[in-house]
Amino acid sequence: MAKPKVFVTRLIPEQGLAIVRDFCEADVWPEELPLAREVILERVKGVDGILSLLTDKIDDDVMDAAEPGLRVISNYAVGFDNVDVGAATRRGIPVGNTPGVLTDTTADFAFALLMAAARRVVEGDNFTRAGKWKTWGPMLLLGQDITRATLGIIGFGRIGKGMAKRAQGFDMRVLYYDPFCEDDPYAAQVGARSIDLDSLLRESDFVSVHTPLIGETYHLINADTLSKMKPTAILINTARGPVVDPEALYHALKEGGISFAALDVTEPEPIRMDHPLLTLENLIITPHIASASVATRGKMAQMAAENLIAGLQGERLPNCVNPEVYERAQA
Ligand code: DGY
Repeated sequence: MAKPKVFVTRLIPEQGLAIVRDFCEADVWPEELPLAREVILERVKGVDGILSLLTDKIDDDVMDAAEPGLRVISNYAVGFDNVDVGAATRRGIPVGNTPGVLTDTTADFAFALLMAAARRVVEGDNFTRAGKWKTWGPMLLLGQDITRATLGIIGFGRIGKGMAKRAQGFDMRVLYYDPFCEDDPYAAQVGARSIDLDSLLRESDFVSVHTPLIGETYHLINADTLSKMKPTAILINTARGPVVDPEALYHALKEGGISFAALDVTEPEPIRMDHPLLTLENLIITPHIASASVATRGKMAQMAAENLIAGLQGERLPNCVNPEVYERAQA
C-alpha cells in the first residue's frame, strides 16, 4: 500500500524524523531557514499531513493548497499561535502540539534568565572580555538579590507552575495572575498566591510571562502595565514575543520605568538588528532557545511524529489542541 505523503517544514531531531520517514513518504525541507510562503504553498499540494514549526504560518491558504487530502497538522511546539486552529477545526482537521516534555527545560531557562538579569552575568562576561577587569571592586556590577524577593508569574500553566516550584528553592514570595485558574490547587503546594494583575505588577521584583499568545494577551505588557511595575523590577519573557510591546519596553528600560528585561522571544522574530532595544545595556535577548536542550528537542520531535502518524491513521492524536473535531465526527 502507498505510504501517506507528508511535508515536514524543517529538519527536526532524528528521534522524530526516523518515525516519520518509516511510516510516510516524507518531503523534508532541508534548509536552516524557514521556507518562503510561496514554497510552502507549493510543497503542501496533495499531502496527507503537515509537520510544521512555530515559524510557519499554517492558515486557510495553506490548508486550501493541501486539501482535499489533508488529514492532520502536527506542530513541533507546545504553542500553536502560528496555526489557524479555527480554520482547521472547520475542516475537521486535528492539530497536534507537544505539551509537557518542554516544561522543565523552559522553566529552567526562564529561571536562568531571571538569575542572569538579576546578577548581571552577561554584562560581567562582556566586561571581562573587554579587558575592563582591573581589580575586585566594592561597587562593581552590583545586582539584585533573588532570595526572598517577590516573583510575579503571569500565566499559571505548566511552565508558570514550574517557575513557582523553582522559586521555592530561593524562598521567594510567589504571586500569580491567571484569569483561567484563579484557585489552582497546585498554588498551595508551591506557596504561590493568586492576585490581580495590577497588584502583581506593583508588588513584584521579577515579573515572568508564561501566557499563550491569544487576543487577550497581545501586548499585555504595554506602556500602561509597565508603568505599574517597580522601577527596580526585572521583566522576563519566555512565552511569545507579541505579549510584550517592544516600543513600550524600550521606553521603560531607557527611561528607568523598570530596571532590566530578559527576553527569549521578541516581536518580530528575529528582532531587527536596527531595533532600538539592541542599543540598551539593561537587556538580555536570546534567540528563542528556552526549550533547546538535546533531550527535550528529541522528545518534542517524537511527540510531533506520533501526533502526525495518529492523524494519518485516523486515530485520536495523543496531544490534540482542537478535540472538538472528534466530537463533531461522532455526532
Ligand atoms: C514552544 O514549544 O511553543 C516553544 O516556544 C518552543 O521553544
